[in-house]
Amino acid sequence: MTQSIIGNLAGYNGDGAAESVVRWALERFHPRLAIATSLQDSVLIHLAMRVRQDIRVFSLDTGRLPEEAYVCADEIRQRLGVRIEWYFPRHEAVEKLVTERGPFSFKHSLNDRRECCHVRKVEPLGRALDGLDAWMTSQRRDESVTRGTLATIERDEAHGGIVKINPLADWTANDIRAYLRKHDLPYNRLLDRGYPSIGCACCTRAVEPGEDPRAGRWWWESAEHKECGLHQKGAQS
Ligand code: ADX
Ligand code: SF4
Repeated sequence: MTQSIIGNLAGYNGDGAAESVVRWALERFHPRLAIATSLQDSVLIHLAMRVRQDIRVFSLDTGRLPEEAYVCADEIRQRLGVRIEWYFPRHEAVEKLVTERGPFSFKHSLNDRRECCHVRKVEPLGRALDGLDAWMTSQRRDESVTRGTLATIERDEAHGGIVKINPLADWTANDIRAYLRKHDLPYNRLLDRGYPSIGCACCTRAVEPGEDPRAGRWWWESAEHKECGLHQKGAQS
């Protein structure tokens, strides 16, 4: 995290501990702050609800999510009492994509894959963030080579320079599992079946023990390409 960013973010004590980052973020930005959940687990939602109950949470339904993600969403709704704000892709864009390129266009090339992610995730994310001053994610540094230098707090230049907060940046997969167990929280059951990182059903598979956590995401691509555009650096062209 750079000094200039800390300097602009008054009141943050800089300790990086998830709970104090979440508390600071909610005190500073609520209600113009929302948590983005990929429905992999509910750790960040739970941490935030310890600060206040009326947090804002959104999820992007790509139309290709695994059934287990919806089960997790329903548990978050029923057991934690969270009203998830859902964003869907523009139906005309999906209709055009699938009509012209087929239901598995993302397998054709990296550009085709990025096009699908753009239509189903990136464009809806823009709408989800519209009007917000900040958003929180569950990204972690231990997830991949593309996230090794992830900051806890950053400016999201791709989305108008709003603040992006990654309170779990220095957590490990074991920390997540321990927290879920301790608080008996909803999570995506694919985590129990060898899926350490979960996206769309058609672009995610289980990994072997010891394999890179994101090896099961877009497994036909090389590691440095395994980002869908939600977490792109720099202003969007
Ligand atoms: S991705 O870029 O490869 O798809 P990943 O699945 O690792 O992202 O998730 C990282 C963070 O991005 C999640 O913790 C969540 O905050 C956000 N995110 C990813 N997918 C979604 C989604 N479908 N809806 C809302 N947020 C998401
Ligand atoms: Fe399309 Fe796969 Fe990206 Fe989902 S993860 S939006 S199906 S390319």
